[in-house]
Amino acid sequence: MESLTFSIALLILLLNSFAFSLNSDTDKNALISFKNSITSDTNAILSTNCSQNTSVCNWIGVSCGLKHGRVTALNLSRYDLAGTVAPHVGNLTFLRYLDISSNSFVGMLPFELSKLRRLKVMNLGTNSFTGEIPKWLGSLPQLEELYLYNNSFLGKIPSSLFNNSKLQTLQILRLSSNKLSGSVPHAIFNVSSLREIGIGNNSLSGRLPIDMCNNMPNIKFLSLSRNQLEGQIPSNIWKCTHLDVLSLSFNNFSGSIPREIGRLSMLTELYLGYNSGFQGSIPICQNLQQLYLDNNKFTGLIPLNIWKCKNLEILNLNINNLSGNIPHTIGNMSMLRELGLGLNHFTGIIFCFENDDLYSFVLRITHALEGLIPPNIWKCKNLEILELGLNNFSGNIPRTIGNMSMLRGLGLAWNHFTGISYT
Ligand SMILES: *[C@@H]1O[C@H](CO)[C@@H](O)[C@H](O)[C@H]1NC(C)=O
Ligand SMILES: *[C@@H]1O[C@H](CO)[C@@H](O)[C@H](O)[C@H]1NC(C)=O
Ligand SMILES: *[C@@H]1O[C@H](CO)[C@@H](O)[C@H](O)[C@H]1NC(C)=O
Ligand SMILES: *[C@@H]1O[C@H](CO)[C@@H](O)[C@H](O)[C@H]1NC(C)=O
Ligand SMILES: *[C@@H]1O[C@H](CO)[C@@H](O)[C@H](O)[C@H]1NC(C)=O
Ligand SMILES: *[C@@H]1O[C@H](CO)[C@@H](O)[C@H](O)[C@H]1NC(C)=O
Ligand SMILES: *[C@@H]1O[C@H](CO)[C@@H](O)[C@H](O)[C@H]1NC(C)=O
Ligand SMILES: *[C@@H]1O[C@H](CO)[C@@H](O)[C@H](O)[C@H]1NC(C)=O
Ligand SMILES: *[C@@H]1O[C@H](CO)[C@@H](O)[C@H](O)[C@H]1NC(C)=O
Ligand SMILES: *[C@@H]1O[C@H](CO)[C@@H](O)[C@H](O)[C@H]1NC(C)=O
Ligand SMILES: *[C@@H]1O[C@H](CO)[C@@H](O)[C@H](O)[C@H]1NC(C)=O
Ligand SMILES: *[C@@H]1O[C@H](CO)[C@@H](O)[C@H](O)[C@H]1NC(C)=O
Repeated sequence: MESLTFSIALLILLLNSFAFSLNSDTDKNALISFKNSITSDTNAILSTNCSQNTSVCNWIGVSCGLKHGRVTALNLSRYDLAGTVAPHVGNLTFLRYLDISSNSFVGMLPFELSKLRRLKVMNLGTNSFTGEIPKWLGSLPQLEELYLYNNSFLGKIPSSLFNNSKLQTLQILRLSSNKLSGSVPHAIFNVSSLREIGIGNNSLSGRLPIDMCNNMPNIKFLSLSRNQLEGQIPSNIWKCTHLDVLSLSFNNFSGSIPREIGRLSMLTELYLGYNSGFQGSIPICQNLQQLYLDNNKFTGLIPLNIWKCKNLEILNLNINNLSGNIPHTIGNMSMLRELGLGLNHFTGIIFCFENDDLYSFVLRITHALEGLIPPNIWKCKNLEILELGLNNFSGNIPRTIGNMSMLRGLGLAWNHFTGISYT
């Protein structure tokens, strides 16, 4: 019995080492084919560092598993390589990490890559791949990060990638800067493992599902900017409790911003500019650092309690229909370094920021104000850019502006100043 066990063990060992060399040969052949389909290798990386004589595990960019000696990672990012991806890469069945981003690969993704069942990370960003986003990506059972940004992928984002419980391990999806069209498949918002979705700068249209955040407990980064999306921000946005960055700018969204957005305590950057359709009042979110609402239809007053956004660094309200006085409470927002109030309908006079902590400050107010520029403007001594053009200021330009040593940009054109000019 013992000797039988021993024999079986020995047999398994022999078979294993046989399989080992056979499979290593498979990896080597796959990598040789990969290398052979590269047409340009400006830095001669592959010819000098992938000698047929050395083990592939010592080739540049290749990592192998310790136990089985099989190729587990291929990392050839930023090597200035051009060519196509050989279908043989699909034979690297132990591959967990594939990064050939920032090169000049062309063509379609070979179907054979669907054999990479152990793949966790696929980064093909910044190349010139074309064709539709392959449906077989949805059958990679362990995929966690998929980067296809900045290529020439076209057509629709296949919804079958995500539905029927596919890609349920996916955490990062980056498809931005391609030529994708059609709508954003609602099934994306059902992949509850997702932490980052970037699909900006395509030609996507349609609306967001009203139940968008019902099943996105982990989402931190959501960018849909620079598309042709329309409709409203789903009111259950507050259920995306971990949201840190939300970018919907340069689309055709409209409606008011759900008040509940104020419940997103981790939201630090909110980009809603250039939709020309957002309206209503300005949202107050406690931990925001950057708020872009420019080029929309916001009306009414800037809320007095804007100071509650105490971490705000950038507030851009340019090109809206806001009116009334600019609240003096803005003056005590100590983190603020850029304030855009241009092209609105503010009345009243400019207040001064007396906050010494402002270290680098940009203030743009145009089409809004009248009266005199307050002589105590020099107290904003860290002001770097002061744009007050296209207002109705009159009187003298205060001499004290000359004391503002940090000032590198000053715009005073299109006002009604009188008196002499000086430098
Ligand atoms: C490539 O091989 C050359 C010569 O063996 C060596 O000097 C160089 O460091 C290698 N480059 C990398 C990136 O491993
Ligand atoms: C490859 O290895 C063989 C024997 O190990 C050696 O004779 C030969 O010169 C090597 N070729 C290259 C290109 O290094
Ligand atoms: C891949 O290579 C890039 C650039 O050399 C490097 O920044 C990155 O950490 C590498 N990734 C892995 C997993 O080795
Ligand atoms: C590897 O892949 C290629 C192309 O997909 C195929 O022709 C070949 O038979 C595969 N197997 C081995 C062991 O190389
Ligand atoms: C996108 O790709 C182009 C070349 O195709 C490159 O010049 C540009 O830097 C890339 N952009 C990003 C954000 O990677
Ligand atoms: C899943 O995707 C397929 C193909 O796009 C579609 O026909 C089907 O309706 C989708 N199912 C669900 C539940 O969304
Ligand atoms: C958008 O994508 C195009 C390529 O499709 C690229 O040239 C352009 O730089 C991208 N724009 C931004 C803002 O990323
Ligand atoms: C999301 O998942 C729920 C429950 O699993 C399912 O009923 C619904 O059809 C899915 N929605 C989409 C758009 O796939
Ligand atoms: C934006 O939406 C409005 C209606 O809400 C529509 O009239 C307009 O044509 C849309 N613009 C674009 C560029 O899609
Ligand atoms: C701007 O707001 C005023 C009221 O404050 C309103 O009368 C006017 O119609 C608005 N203009 C636009 C273009 O929405
Ligand atoms: C800012 O101003 C508001 C309203 O006047 C006040 O309640 C708040 O305490 C001030 N905050 C700071 C930090 O000065
Ligand atoms: C500036 O004043 C003129 C008349 O003095 C007035 O017609 C114009 O509407 C004013 N512009 C602004 C932006 O207040």
